[in-house]
Order: sequence, then structure tokens, then C-alpha cells
Amino acid sequence: MNEYKQLVTTLRETQDLPSEALRSLLETDAADALLREAAEEVRRQYYGDAVYLRGLIEFTNYCKNDCYYCGIRHGNREATRYRLSQEEILSCCREGYALGFRTFVLQGGEDPYYTDEKICSIVSAIRTAYPDCAITLSIGEKPRASYQAYFDAGANRYLLRHETATEAHYRKLHPDNMSLSNRKRCLFDLKEIGYQVGAGIMVGSPYQTTEHLLADLRFLQELSPDMIGIGPYLTHAETPFCDQPNGSLALTLRLLSILRLMFPYVLLPATTALGTIHPQGRELGLRAGANVVMPNLSPVGVRELYQLYENKICTGEEAAQCRGCLERRVLSVGYHVVTDIGNVRREKP
Ligand code: SAM
Ligand code: FES
Repeated sequence: MNEYKQLVTTLRETQDLPSEALRSLLETDAADALLREAAEEVRRQYYGDAVYLRGLIEFTNYCKNDCYYCGIRHGNREATRYRLSQEEILSCCREGYALGFRTFVLQGGEDPYYTDEKICSIVSAIRTAYPDCAITLSIGEKPRASYQAYFDAGANRYLLRHETATEAHYRKLHPDNMSLSNRKRCLFDLKEIGYQVGAGIMVGSPYQTTEHLLADLRFLQELSPDMIGIGPYLTHAETPFCDQPNGSLALTLRLLSILRLMFPYVLLPATTALGTIHPQGRELGLRAGANVVMPNLSPVGVRELYQLYENKICTGEEAAQCRGCLERRVLSVGYHVVTDIGNVRREKP
């Protein structure tokens, strides 16, 4: 036990450890309680008991890509596809604003129907209507010029999980027309343009090893993102990975704590996937160091259709119900939801 105590203390104080030591923390459950306690303390130093809300608008489930893990991949002929109009997206924002959301996250598959012109028009309409809100995009890999155009139209954050920082692993998760180098290029372009950037991975994605997780932590150190989105990999029957097991709750929580200690300032969501793998998954995530929740603002009619994995939670609730439910969950673990734009705090307040 003492050995782990020393490791956790060093990780907390220096925000780093040699890879061998990180490996031993990743591979044991003996240090979980120590990691969680340290992570919770550090998170309170930077963010007090505030939990930030992000209103998630899943505006298209069309996708031109064929990632082997994803339920909305192009090759899934069983999926019923939908797109939201600019008016429908704005109406989600209107409802969200009234409920206290100050960040809107527009997420979707890589859908060529939404040309740069259309995305810019949507972004600038939201920017005009809600000048005090952050606009986050999560619409995949684009040329730098497109990212610049969205930024100029008023977008200020971008979520693009790197998925894995190891080339050989990336190849096992994606078809040949996708590349890790392009994904990394996107992330560095986004940062240079001036976006607050979020990267991240699925925990327990098929073929993932501890070595891959170590490479992910090193890549995140190089990128120094403002947000890190992680959640367990969850199986979807209509994908090539239909026989692969789900990721682990315990390892996801352990990684959340390790990330909080390595990146004390970071915005760390307790994701929907975490809430799907365990009924109290998001509460456990908050207790392990997470400080963001992302309730769904999409119209109830389309929520079932944005099915990246099976048994996704919160598909029946209206936005107000989702917000109320999350507020109670957050309170139950000693934190509280704030009406705040929720920018990253790179320094302790
Ligand atoms: N198309 C955009 C992109 O690629 O970044 C945004 C949408 S994509 C569906 C959002 C994230 O969902 C991916 O980065 C991936 O990590 C996650 N995801 C996809 N399939 C999943 C699965 N089966 N289980 C858990 N997470 C999954
Ligand atoms: Fe759409 Fe991977 S299947 S980005």
C-alpha cells in the first residue's frame, strides 16, 4: 500500500510519473481509493464544487466514415438517418438557454450535407442569438481552412477524440482511408487557430493494451488539451466489433483520476457512456475527478437514432427532465451544477 501511496503523492505533486510507475497504477485496483481521494482534492482546488453543463445537440447521424466501433458508421444499413435543420438546432439552443445552459455542443457524424457554408450559418446564428455562450463543434476531421471558417463564424471549442495515439491500434479500429496522422494534424490545427480543444479515447476499445493507454497519456501531455473526453467502449450489434466486450467501468474511473492528477486544470466530462455502463456511472465519474456533465438537448424524437452504442440512456426524457435529473445526481455526490460558460482554469483560482 505504501508503495502506491508514494506513487500517487508524486503523481499529484509533479503531474507526472515514469511510464513503469504509471503502468503499475493502471494495472492494479489497489490504488483506486488513493487515486480517487487525491483527484477529488485536486479537482476541488481548481473548480471548487462546481460542475459545468454542456448542452449536447446531436444534429445529424449521417456519417461518411466507417469506424469499426461506431453504430452510426456509413456501413450500418439498419440505422434510420436524420438531420436537424438550422431552425431546429436554434430551437434546441433556445430551450437550453432558458434551462441555464451556457455551452452548446453541436455533434454529428461526418456529414457532407452540412457544407462549411451551412455550418458557418448555423454557428453565426447561434453566436448572434447567444453572445454569452460557448459554441462547441464536434463534427470530425476537416481541412484547416474549414476549422478557421467555423472559428471566424463564432465557434470557440472543438471536441475531437484522438481515439488512440498508437498507429497500429488506430489501424485496427479504422478502415485504411482514415489515418492517425490526419487526426493529430486536426487537433494541432484547432489549437493553433485558437479553439479550446478536447481530445480523448474510448476505454477498453477492442485490442487496447496498457501500452496504448500509456501512449495516450504521453500524447495528451504533448497536446495539452483543455478538455479530455473518455468513456467506456460499448458494443453495437450492427458493427464489425459486435462480438467485442464492453470496456470496464473500473478502468474508466481509474483513468479519470489519473487524468485529473496529470492535468489538474482540465475539463473532464462524466460521459453518457459512463452512465450507460452503470446506473450511477456519472456520479462515480464525478467522484473520481470529473467536473462536466453533458445533458442531451436534442429533440426527443431523434435521440434513439443517434445510437453510437446500445442501451444509450436518456433517450426518452425532455431537455428539462434531463437537466433536473442530472442536477439531482450531481448534488447527491456533493457538487452543484452552475449556470456558467465553464471555461478551462489553467491556474488555481
Ligand atoms: N464524428 C465526430 C468525430 O468523429 O469526432 C463526432 C461524433 S463521434 C460518434 C463521437 C465519439 O463517439 C467518438 O469520438 C468515439 O470516441 C465515440 N464512440 C463511437 N462509437 C462508440 C462506441 N461504440 N462506444 C463508445 N463510444 C463510442
Ligand atoms: Fe462516423 Fe467514425 S463512423 S466518424
